[in-house]
Amino acid sequence: MFYDTLKKIRLVPVVVIDDAELATPLAEAISAGGLSCVEITLRTDEALAAIKTMAARPDILVGAGTVLTLDQAKAAVDCGASFIVSPGMSPTLVDWCLARQVPVIPGCATATEIQMAMEQGLETVKFFPAEQLGGISMLQALAGVFRAMHFMPTGGITAGNLLHYLALPQVVACGGSWLVKTEWLRDKKFVNIRQEISKAVELLNNTLTR
Ligand code: 3PG
Repeated sequence: MFYDTLKKIRLVPVVVIDDAELATPLAEAISAGGLSCVEITLRTDEALAAIKTMAARPDILVGAGTVLTLDQAKAAVDCGASFIVSPGMSPTLVDWCLARQVPVIPGCATATEIQMAMEQGLETVKFFPAEQLGGISMLQALAGVFRAMHFMPTGGITAGNLLHYLALPQVVACGGSWLVKTEWLRDKKFVNIRQEISKAVELLNNTLTR
């Protein structure tokens, strides 16, 4: 269900938030820009409070990113996170999520990690850090081997390369921080955020037919 939604949304803004008070105007800007999903990274003290605020909104699906430990996953789910994203492939974290039917997207950078995810029954992983690993050509090589696996490339994705990634059949969505730049959020430049998101959504609507 979540993965079907992700496939429809196709874009996940990755956010570093320093002030939970900004969660509401941020959600409004994302929603006004045309997206209904966000990943709040647990890299700041305010992230969990921001997740809690956003989870109460009907217009946005909020997940927790940069989840490194089980305690973080538990705290994020307690705050209402609808999905968990981690930078690496932790079988312990994946097991914990699967046992609770919490959608989880672990980061995979190698064939071994993708195979581990596959063995745990996952059908979607984050290809991270996408551009730094070799971008589309690396992803194509991996996707060609793991035919049943779906990918959410993240890391170095921009409006400039987004469509190239999304054109790959096994790519369900892309994640990226370019949509909500940390300095824009810090400086309350919600118009910039809304405009960048609208631009990306328009790009998708004009180009992709599925
Ligand atoms: C992440 O948290 O997934 C990445 O840091 C996002 O990568 P980007 O900043 O290159 O978009």
